[in-house]
Amino acid sequence: MSAPPPSLAVLVSGRGSNLQAILAAIREQRLPARVVAVIGDRAAPARDLARAEGIPFLSPGGDEELCAALRERGVQWVALAGYLHRIGPRVLAAYPNRVLNIHPSLLPAFGGQGMYGQRVHRAVLAAGVRETGASVHIVTEDYDQGPVLARERVAVLPGDSPESLAARVLAVEHRLYPDTLARLVRGELRPPPWQS
Ligand code: GRF
Repeated sequence: MSAPPPSLAVLVSGRGSNLQAILAAIREQRLPARVVAVIGDRAAPARDLARAEGIPFLSPGGDEELCAALRERGVQWVALAGYLHRIGPRVLAAYPNRVLNIHPSLLPAFGGQGMYGQRVHRAVLAAGVRETGASVHIVTEDYDQGPVLARERVAVLPGDSPESLAARVLAVEHRLYPDTLARLVRGELRPPPWQS
């Protein structure tokens, strides 16, 4: 019998469109993985999505509880998808180079604490830059500071609003995140060496 595909936990705080993109990529066999848990805030709309897919939805209290929940379910990779909380040292130590995040800008630009959602796109427009994009990176203790694994550019167009820009970036995220996760779990992409 062949080994089961690598197990993934997806952490969400919001609507969960990246979770949806990950699930679609698994269904379409573009991502050789299975989502064994969705973890997030009790009120996250993504909770309904997890339920509809029959995936357990958990809301552990803190770093220790989260780490225990991941281990109990045999999670091998952790994907943050719009998760607004810091990942603590226990989880990071238990999953070295295996906690990933997607961010809606070309990191290191427009990242860091407080840079999430429309704030990122508003800052991009206020800065007057011509391009932005999406980045997948390894999560470390500092927000959006870990090594970047993949980035894709998106042009800022004249007349863009934060909403129109967010929509084009999000479409890129939905392809970039599952593709990068697939390259990682297949061992085709190796994180650069870094010091925790
Ligand atoms: C995305 O823009 C992602 O880059 C950021 O949070 C947003 C989550 O959106 N980290 P969704 O909940 O996946 O729709």
